[in-house]
Amino acid sequence: MALYQHDVLVIGSGAAGLTLALQLAPSLRVALLSKSTLDEGSTLYAQGGIAAVLDPEDSIESHIRDTLNAGDGLCDESVVRHTVAQAPSAIEKLIESGAQFTRTDSADPHAPYHLTQEGGHSNRRVIHAADATGRAIEKTLTQQVQSRSNIEVYEHHFAIDLITRSKLGDNSTTDRVMGAYVLDRNRDQVNIFQANHVVLATGGGSKVYLYTSNPDISTGDGIAMAWRSGCRIANMEFNQFHPTCLYHPQAKSFLVTEAVRGEGGKLLLPDQSPFMDRFDSRQELAPRDIVARAIDHEMKRLGVDNLYLDLSFQSADFIQHHFPMVRRRLLQFGVDMTQEPIPIVPAAHYTCGGIMTNLQGETDLKGLYAVGEVAHTGLHGANRMASNSLLECLVFAHSAAETINQSGEILSPSPPIPPWDESRVTDSDEAVVVSHNWDELRRFMWDYVGIVRTTKRLERAHHRIDLLQHEIREYYSHFRISNNLLELRNLAQVAELIIHSALQRRESRGLHYTLDYPEKSPTPENTILSPHSPLSSSSRQP
Ligand code: FAD
Ligand code: SIN
Repeated sequence: MALYQHDVLVIGSGAAGLTLALQLAPSLRVALLSKSTLDEGSTLYAQGGIAAVLDPEDSIESHIRDTLNAGDGLCDESVVRHTVAQAPSAIEKLIESGAQFTRTDSADPHAPYHLTQEGGHSNRRVIHAADATGRAIEKTLTQQVQSRSNIEVYEHHFAIDLITRSKLGDNSTTDRVMGAYVLDRNRDQVNIFQANHVVLATGGGSKVYLYTSNPDISTGDGIAMAWRSGCRIANMEFNQFHPTCLYHPQAKSFLVTEAVRGEGGKLLLPDQSPFMDRFDSRQELAPRDIVARAIDHEMKRLGVDNLYLDLSFQSADFIQHHFPMVRRRLLQFGVDMTQEPIPIVPAAHYTCGGIMTNLQGETDLKGLYAVGEVAHTGLHGANRMASNSLLECLVFAHSAAETINQSGEILSPSPPIPPWDESRVTDSDEAVVVSHNWDELRRFMWDYVGIVRTTKRLERAHHRIDLLQHEIREYYSHFRISNNLLELRNLAQVAELIIHSALQRRESRGLHYTLDYPEKSPTPENTILSPHSPLSSSSRQP
């Protein structure tokens, strides 16, 4: 076993983790962990872009209003104001770092940036790099990180659990994070990473659903780790389903960006007739919860497996210019979007809830920060507006880094950290338990805790998650850890939090829609779960 010591441990190398690491003072020694390769994560696959007021015709007030509307009464307005106000400078910094965004005239390097439109936005305000914005951001930021001498990168390093004073039995001072136990997947060895500040930038948990736009790493590890370390988790019932993922047996839920609808794309029934005007006056550009529910409703009404998204009325040149990556990918599946409608279905896309933080990204546990999709800052409320997620990663990474840079805290001596103990576990003789539970979990979450919910379905899911949690805990205490087991353990934790939160919400709001409580209650409230009293509810941020 090895013991690594740093000033700051950043767990996760998406937009949030990379931006934060780069903003830390060069005098700080930083460890940056990724459980896969450095660039793998949701950020890499982001398509549409980043929302910011960059057009003189647009206004900060309009971006704020749209975000609040999409969030359906549950956004924290002060957080929305802060984030939206910081957006233009966050984009500016990204451009200064070398990120290349699409301009209105590709031949003119000084032409204004092209801004696209997405659901919920009343102006064009989404800056993008064609339809592969995340790839451009990840490339720029990873290059920068690799050139920094104070940042040590650890790929294929899986953070298992946080180490805290209280877990070590030291209750003499306020509890605080001390580091993490980390599985080095290359050597199959668990090491200790000790640090004064730990940042969770581990992304969301949409892999908890059978069909998702997310990559395999999105297993909610940070949320589960924070919960096991005593942090409160908020609004987990608001899992966003993206309306338009490719429907194809071989496509692992490939996303077809909302910008396709922003550029005029129409949603169609199998008989090629449009239907969104029956659901919302904004039609295809209504917020995502409304569009996904409308598609789900029509699919169930007609008994069909998918609907369609059509942009084929635009010229092939236009489509190639705006959506080269999506077009190429669809062609690999035999769909030519310049000639025919694209078969689509909704899929789990974004975790609106997460670890409760304040404006500096601080959590309930001293020294622990949460930034990016893993966090619940109050920005998204009951439904995140398109392209506000990358924005949140950037803005909160900056404020958390600034807080860490300015922290002159003198720490009291820490108790010794014991090595990872494997003395009471053996190699598993029944790995099938893990694979079976992975499948079962994701299927019942899709069937019982999906776009449209009922109390009965949620109770079924509750019953199943109790059984699974029991089985997984038993397995975890008897057998040596593996990547799949660690992820399953975290996914089950995330599922339990989603189900408990959904059962607590006795109304329909934003992304949480239940047939048993179809109305909105008059007073919007956050669902806040505390590990100290799992089903309690309040609305205070740290
Ligand atoms: P991620 O980018 O997911 O990175 C998580 C990191 O944490 C990875 O490096 C991973 O290896 C690491 N990690 C996780 N667990 C552990 C662990 N236990 N130990 C060590 N490392 C760990 N949002 C927008 O605003 N605009 C868009 O256009 C857009 N398009 C999207 C398209 C797709 C297909 C998807 C899936 C999402 C999209 N989103 C978009 C959402 C947005 O991309 C994500 O919310 C955002 O990128 C999350 O960034 P992050 O840094 O928080 O996490
Ligand atoms: C998309 O491009 O449709 C995804 C945008 C987002 O999730 O914000």
